[in-house]
Amino acid sequence: MKYKFANHVSNMNISAIREIFKVLGKPGMISFAGGAPAPEVLPLDIINKLNSIIIEKYGTTVLQYNVTEGFVPLRQALSNYLNTTRGFDLSANEVFVSTGAQNAIDAVSRLFIDVGDKIIVESPTFLASIKTFRVSSPAILSVSVDEEGINLIELETLLKQNKIKFLYTIPNFQNPSGYTMSLDRRQQLVELAKRYELLIIEDDPYYELRYYGSNLPTLRSLLPDQVIYIGSLSKIFAPGMRLGYYIAPDQIAEKITSVRQGIDVHANIYAQALASEYISGGYLETQLQLIRNLYRVRLELMLSELNQKLSNKEIKISQPLGGMFVWLSNISQDTVELYNQAIKQNVAFVPGKYFFVNESPNNHSLRLNFTNVNEENIIKGIDILSKILK
Ligand SMILES: Cc1ncc(COP(=O)(O)O)c(C=O)c1O
Repeated sequence: MKYKFANHVSNMNISAIREIFKVLGKPGMISFAGGAPAPEVLPLDIINKLNSIIIEKYGTTVLQYNVTEGFVPLRQALSNYLNTTRGFDLSANEVFVSTGAQNAIDAVSRLFIDVGDKIIVESPTFLASIKTFRVSSPAILSVSVDEEGINLIELETLLKQNKIKFLYTIPNFQNPSGYTMSLDRRQQLVELAKRYELLIIEDDPYYELRYYGSNLPTLRSLLPDQVIYIGSLSKIFAPGMRLGYYIAPDQIAEKITSVRQGIDVHANIYAQALASEYISGGYLETQLQLIRNLYRVRLELMLSELNQKLSNKEIKISQPLGGMFVWLSNISQDTVELYNQAIKQNVAFVPGKYFFVNESPNNHSLRLNFTNVNEENIIKGIDILSKILK
């Protein structure tokens, strides 16, 4: 039978990406392609301990259905944590738990986008968000990013000419570019948002993964009424737990809850109970030291190998202060062809073009993950890659 798929499925780029991720399991493959935490910092021993604590403390509640908004002890732990780290002033019932950040992005997308509506994303931006937005068939406009974040001149031009439903931005250690929006850019963006009544989706899963300097104010703290703030526990707890959270103006939060009642009903309660103990029991803080220390070493090693081995080339290497990715741009070769050469030598990365929504994507950039590759393989992999980069 001929299956009658929805129109948006044909835009999914399924096969190309699937090809990339198919080779990653090959023995001996050095993969800079993923975006996963290092297994060394997944808190197995802590979880082993927390398992009996939550069963003792909550009994069968952790195995029952619960409310969409989230498990109360986790909402409590998250609000305290966010108030301390982000300078927010939240009560527990203003924080909502989602099935990963991805679920919150999906719910927001369904809540706001009608077919043909215009939204703005950064160029490049997070692949899975593009995929999520496309389900609702919007017109996705894009604005370039540089070392200081989103280009505000391009943004204002779009805002003047179009009715925009929302802007989706990743201000900290952006995926894929590693760039962080400067304070000045944040303030100017907020001014523009006020002037044009622009709703901002602030996706901030890497906030904690800062290896140098101090954190900048979130867009939400600068403009609470116009920002939906989305966070994740994937990089600071465990991605397999599928836990994220969001904070939004009341009217929006209520509607997101209603949308989610038709998607995931609620995030996994057992995982939420574990996360609440992980945060309120002080494990997160200790774990974050380990995570940052390990990732900083890997980032420094990757950058020094790249700088050394690509020193006589025009290639631009991003200098992230945190996050999980280094971005190479201004590469003379087509990076999809480069990818095909690299995997023959057991090295993988993601060609840049998949992170662009415009019709002429950038084929001269690529993304490297440094968190899930050990030191020995970083040296080996960058050596192979630099020989392929003419
Ligand atoms: C920018 C960005 N947003 C959201 C996510 C998804 O996070 P989660 O695992 O919480 O769904 C990721 C994961 O890599 C990401 O890079």
